[in-house]
Amino acid sequence: MDLFKAARDVRENAHAPYSDFKVGAAIRAADGQIFTGCNVENVAYPEGTCAEAGAIAAMIAAGAREIAEVIVVADSPVPITPCGGCRQKLAEFARPDTPVIMAGLQGELARMTVAELLPGAFSTAHLGHG
Ligand code: THU
Repeated sequence: MDLFKAARDVRENAHAPYSDFKVGAAIRAADGQIFTGCNVENVAYPEGTCAEAGAIAAMIAAGAREIAEVIVVADSPVPITPCGGCRQKLAEFARPDTPVIMAGLQGELARMTVAELLPGAFSTAHLGHG
């Protein structure tokens, strides 16, 4: 299935009564499988989760581990970029050059790599084991 269509379709299922801003995300894993997620808000606002987090959770639950490509879709004329927390979550399972595509309802608006979105990402290299 087309990655953009997967993200646009899952966006319809978002639970976003507080922001009224629905977001869909679709990940193509390195093995070719597609995983989707949407934002799930909560009346206790900080408990809400982003579309990217949902797609990552679905990927991990299915046993896949590497993000080859991700697309985020919202009804916005300007490309919506993943929030700071989601940039770190994406970096956990992506390579620095993995593309992150930002789209409106009609299609792609912009694309950046994970490293462009999160330069100097905190990584295993910083843990300093040993
Ligand atoms: N949101 C996402 O799901 N992904 C993004 O990349 C940006 C923001 C959600 C969080 C919240 O439910 C709504 O959009 C408004 O911030």
